[in-house]
Amino acid sequence: MDTNSLFRLDGRIALVTGGSRGIGRMIVSGFVAQGAKVYVSSRKAEACEETAAALGENCIALPHDISTVEGCRALAEDLAAREARLDILVNNAGAAWGEPFETFPEKGWDKVMDLNVKSPFFLTQALHALLKAGGSAERPAKVINITSIDGQRLNPWETYSYHASKSALIYLTKRMAARLVRDHINVTSIAPGAFASDMNKAARDHGDAVSKAIPAKRIGSDEDMAGTAIYLASRAGDYVIGDTITVDGGLVNASLGGSIDG
Ligand SMILES: NC(=O)c1ccc[n+]([C@@H]2O[C@H](COP(=O)([O-])OP(=O)(O)OC[C@H]3O[C@@H](n4cnc5c(N)ncnc54)[C@H](OP(=O)(O)O)[C@@H]3O)[C@@H](O)[C@H]2O)c1
Repeated sequence: MDTNSLFRLDGRIALVTGGSRGIGRMIVSGFVAQGAKVYVSSRKAEACEETAAALGENCIALPHDISTVEGCRALAEDLAAREARLDILVNNAGAAWGEPFETFPEKGWDKVMDLNVKSPFFLTQALHALLKAGGSAERPAKVINITSIDGQRLNPWETYSYHASKSALIYLTKRMAARLVRDHINVTSIAPGAFASDMNKAARDHGDAVSKAIPAKRIGSDEDMAGTAIYLASRAGDYVIGDTITVDGGLVNASLGGSIDG
């Protein structure tokens, strides 16, 4: 068995939404290192350009706001003008909203559900033809949705729409996988735990405190996230379909619950 090529992405074309920073950038870095040509998308053109410049000529900025269906279609059209196929789509761009139950506003639902649930669906729909062109029985195309452990278990924060959106995306991953497998497009998801980013300021600014509650006693690293994404994107992950891989140092699946009898 040639395990050297098992995780390689040479010649593959990838698009990572929200790839300019945080978890998206960790995945972009990993894909580029494995030989892929990677398009980095987010709203801020300058941030995309900076990331692309830092990661080399196989990394290309393609800025778009994908919070609307029109925005998703515009990004897909822009990519279609440059490439005849897409091998890997990572739906990573996401938003959160925290506010007490009593005042939690409708816009805190719309913003989060639009970007975290509707955009992965409508962007994948808009890129369907390109993904079909990229996928074959021998080498399926991949759609990887970045969900969250907040879709698998509760945390103390009042992030009502975020919890619901991530749980919805975990289930949507299965439903889309069931439809798209016949087009040789495998849909999966990664549910991250605590990774340092602008969104997870607690992990970024108070990593030591956050680590205490994690069975592995540390927050996630760039390699933890890149490694999982490379696995799912490459030949190594071809037989994983519809599933969510939890990457959280054991919080969801290896934490001991408290005793109810003292
Ligand atoms: N960090 C964690 O601990 C953690 C844990 C579990 C799950 N996640 C998930 O991981 C994903 C990435 O989160 P992160 O922590 O890396 O957050 P982040 O640092 O805030 O990054 C979010 C990325 O999405 C882009 N983005 C935001 N709104 C957008 C829009 N309307 N259109 C296009 N791009 C947009 C941002 O760039 P612009 O501002 O330029 O648009 C940025 O590149 C999210 O889905 C999040 O829910 C994170």
